[in-house]
Amino acid sequence: MPLNVTVVGTGYVGLVTGVCLAHSGHNVTCVDIEPAKVEMLRAGRSTIYEPGIEELLKEGLKNGNLRFETPEAGWNPLIGDVTFVAVGTPMASNGAADLSAVHAVVEDLAEAADRPFLMVMKSTVPMGTGETLCQRHLSKSGVSIGYVSNPEFLREGKALEDWYHTDRIVLGSANSADLTTMKSLYADIDAAIVETDIASAETIKYASNAFLSTKISFINEIANVCDLVGADIDSVAKGIGLDKRIGTEFLKAGIGYGGSCFPKDTRALDFISTLHGYDFTLLKAVIDVNNRQYQLPAVHLMDALGDLNDCRIAVLGLAFKPDTDDVRESPALGIVPLLVGAGARVAIYDPIAADTPLGGAERTTTIWEALEGACAAVVVTEWAEVVNLDWSRAADLMLDDAIVFDGRNCLDPRTVQAAGMRYMAVGRAGAHRSEA
Ligand code: UDX
Repeated sequence: MPLNVTVVGTGYVGLVTGVCLAHSGHNVTCVDIEPAKVEMLRAGRSTIYEPGIEELLKEGLKNGNLRFETPEAGWNPLIGDVTFVAVGTPMASNGAADLSAVHAVVEDLAEAADRPFLMVMKSTVPMGTGETLCQRHLSKSGVSIGYVSNPEFLREGKALEDWYHTDRIVLGSANSADLTTMKSLYADIDAAIVETDIASAETIKYASNAFLSTKISFINEIANVCDLVGADIDSVAKGIGLDKRIGTEFLKAGIGYGGSCFPKDTRALDFISTLHGYDFTLLKAVIDVNNRQYQLPAVHLMDALGDLNDCRIAVLGLAFKPDTDDVRESPALGIVPLLVGAGARVAIYDPIAADTPLGGAERTTTIWEALEGACAAVVVTEWAEVVNLDWSRAADLMLDDAIVFDGRNCLDPRTVQAAGMRYMAVGRAGAHRSEA
């Protein structure tokens, strides 16, 4: 049965939630405080880069299941029977999640409401936040407001696929009628449902991202050891991943994880643990390892070349992963300043990533411009264009005996070497030792 749904916040999570629920047949109102965003979305243009989202957006606008509003005329008419909160929880300077937007929206909704509704928290909030919001805001409302914690597990670039084919839906609530409403909202999604209390649902979100980050930092440590002992990380990852208890996913070694979630959520979980008097030693190590990985290109290029002064280096990729324009916490943001600081002339190429001020580095419009005259290329993002590059043509443009540092272990070393270049990577059979 179609429900009247409101989604507050049309950022990444909110917009995906809104268009997908409209596509499922619900009657959805998305609300954002930025009029320019609302105008753009009303015109059928997506404010985020996400494959397939614009089609669903246009479909929802056309069939009338989806509309966009600002709260200028007051919150009350905008509140749906199910109202999602999907506003940002950016990282504060101390590593904690900044909850000011969440508190402001929840308070506004609780004050404005003149009839009962169900509030659903999609924003990633620290454990205990749901309880605090209920006590501080919802309990003071003149009407009864239910509360469900319903964290998201969407990957950028694959958000629509993840929405409809998720491994699980997590619902944290103490109220069985609210859980029933949520299950009817997601009736068309075939996934395991984890019904739990609010604090556990909040913890599941942080624990999931912390565990995935741990897998990445673990395989990166193993890769670093592989380099020292002359082993091959690809074989090692396959060999351990085929044990079903471990699993093959998230065992790709490289220059570390980035993006809007893993760095923020691992630091926030460490912060929350510390607040509760717990020293999360393992998580701290995961974060430390990640902060070390992005330094590898500069360290190994310096080892191999002796000096990077005035050496032109092509940085291939700026986005934190392919198929997104998102540069938040991308390893490139650490790599480029290190190379520039070492005196290199850095030329960055990325097919779509947002322009980011990176002092002293040049941004090129084609990959060939970046490679022209370069003594080294660093692969930061495994874009298809980079993976399938004509490396012979690249070698012709670059200086003799140039180095390709494959920070994502995404190239075939033989192709690069056959083009006459030196190949370096992360844990791939000691490639940089033998070539140095
Ligand atoms: C992640 C989670 O996957 C998702 O469930 C959560 O809701 C949000 O955070 P996302 O940030 O879109 O999604 O990216 P993801 O594809 O998980 O990759 C994150 C980072 O880890 C990227 O920088 C990627 O390059 C890196 N990574 C991933 C590795 O270095 N090795 C791997 O094996 C996998």
